[in-house]
Amino acid sequence: MAHRWKNTLTSADVTPKSIWMNRRSVLAGLAGAGALSSVGGMATAQDALTPNTLEEIRSYNNFYEFGTGKGDPSANAGAMDTSGWEVTIDGLVDNPGTYALNDLIGDMTVEERIYRFRCVEAWSMVVPWNGFELADLLNKVGVQSGATHVAFETAVMPEVMIGVQRRVMDFPYVEGLRLDEAMHPLTLMATGIYDEPLANQNGAPMRLVVPWKYGFKSIKSIVRITLTDEQPPTSWSTINPREYGFYSNVNPQVDHPRWSQASERVIGGGLFAARKDTLMFNGYPEVASLYEGLDLAANY
Ligand code: MTE
Repeated sequence: MAHRWKNTLTSADVTPKSIWMNRRSVLAGLAGAGALSSVGGMATAQDALTPNTLEEIRSYNNFYEFGTGKGDPSANAGAMDTSGWEVTIDGLVDNPGTYALNDLIGDMTVEERIYRFRCVEAWSMVVPWNGFELADLLNKVGVQSGATHVAFETAVMPEVMIGVQRRVMDFPYVEGLRLDEAMHPLTLMATGIYDEPLANQNGAPMRLVVPWKYGFKSIKSIVRITLTDEQPPTSWSTINPREYGFYSNVNPQVDHPRWSQASERVIGGGLFAARKDTLMFNGYPEVASLYEGLDLAANY
């Protein structure tokens, strides 16, 4: 498949500029070569990232509203009508309301972010998202001082969602972040992939992308964003709190109770490709400071 993205990218290409500049100044400020190489070992965003093809990204999905098989979302999600999409913003915000999507995000600066994407099921892809920083949207609606968390909710359209009809889990699918996680410059609201609008199976018209967390945090087809002063319930940790925590940071040292998280199968790598080592925070060490003093094994 011919596309414009280069196969060799520098970390300037794969991380937002503000963070890259930051990292450069951190690197510049470090004295010894030892310190440099240990940061270099950690700063895995310097790896070249080869994005998966659009075909791979659109055909191997998790979107339980449309069925539990990897091919179900691409087979079934086409029937979802995303025209006239509205998003409700409520809770501890200055400008609550139900907005037509374009009124809400039409003025956002959309950029390309090539991110690693690591599912809790231990497969991974690299996705060239188009989107804007969630922080920009939250600043636009005005977060009030008491807010500590952000809750997200996916649309429920039983007429077209076969997984909802079959009640494969409780819907709406809900997710949440701490406010500082939501405000982090890596946290993206995606509206496209490869400069094309999101396919329905990828969470059209707007989905969250939190690249240092397992993929299930990246909630699709969002219809509600609520600013709150408590940790919101999340779908998978409600279903099985022992297996899925609120944080769900990618962590090769904390295994899922039923499988190892130390390595991952790269989608598109071929049947006999070696598994790849999973990286702490999925290779985004710049988020580590968010969790200082937190026991990451207890707060999985
Ligand atoms: N969002 C909703 N509403 N429903 C889902 O079932 N699955 C999650 C996440 N967001 C899911 C969801 C999981 S488990 C993963 S791995 C990613 O979406 C998959 O995103 P992708 O299909 O675009 O790769």
